[in-house]
Amino acid sequence: MKKYLIAGNWKMNFLKNETIQFAKELSSKLENRALEQVELLICAPFTNFHYLQNNLSDKWSFGAQNMHFADSGAYTGEVSPLMLMDAGCEYVILGHSERRQYFGEDNELLTKKINSALNHKLKPIFCIGETIEERNRNITFDILNQQLEVLKNVEPDLLSNITIAYEPVWAIGTGLTATTEQIAEVHSWINNYLQTNLSTSLKILYGGSMNAGNSAEILAIDNVSGGLIGGASLKVDQFMQIIDNAINLS
Ligand code: PGA
Repeated sequence: MKKYLIAGNWKMNFLKNETIQFAKELSSKLENRALEQVELLICAPFTNFHYLQNNLSDKWSFGAQNMHFADSGAYTGEVSPLMLMDAGCEYVILGHSERRQYFGEDNELLTKKINSALNHKLKPIFCIGETIEERNRNITFDILNQQLEVLKNVEPDLLSNITIAYEPVWAIGTGLTATTEQIAEVHSWINNYLQTNLSTSLKILYGGSMNAGNSAEILAIDNVSGGLIGGASLKVDQFMQIIDNAINLS
């Protein structure tokens, strides 16, 4: 039986009042749900942690969307793994395609970030995925192979604390979702890669325009252990439907 991880990635959205209202509504809707087989996570902007934690039930885990690799120091504008732990985070998203694209995050930097997170007992959600050009050139698996190289520089004992998120860049925020065949093919390839190269199996989330309507079908695919959800995690009804679909499938 799968234990699903349903993770909201709020990106740079929601102010204080929206956060509080969202958290209260979601908590009341979740009251009688059986959550033994589903783990719930929200990765919010740093400024919202406090409001979220004070207004969501203890059924939730919290995460960040990025972090610096150093513990502290002269890095204006950055947030460290120690600070995230201190603020009650259990997870941190690393290598999201928006960080790769707009902030130049590459394998060298991501190796430092993943190792630092693991050393501080934060669980990385490591995002990988190809662009539409890469898919059209038939180099999807070369790209995923390059991105997964980072994991070869992780202490083998710590690998099990990592969750992979397969997020085809062309499906993020576009309303285009990968087909079930495409998702099944890539997730099975990632699973084989992990077993062959790293002798491990990890949770593999799908991300990219997952919503209330398509989530049941996606979550039912082999090797899909949950979702990393952007837009639909900002709408209580959509997010609740995704959570309910995970509960029904587990
Ligand atoms: P989306 O975002 O669900 O809005 O496509 C997913 C993500 O970027 O993690």
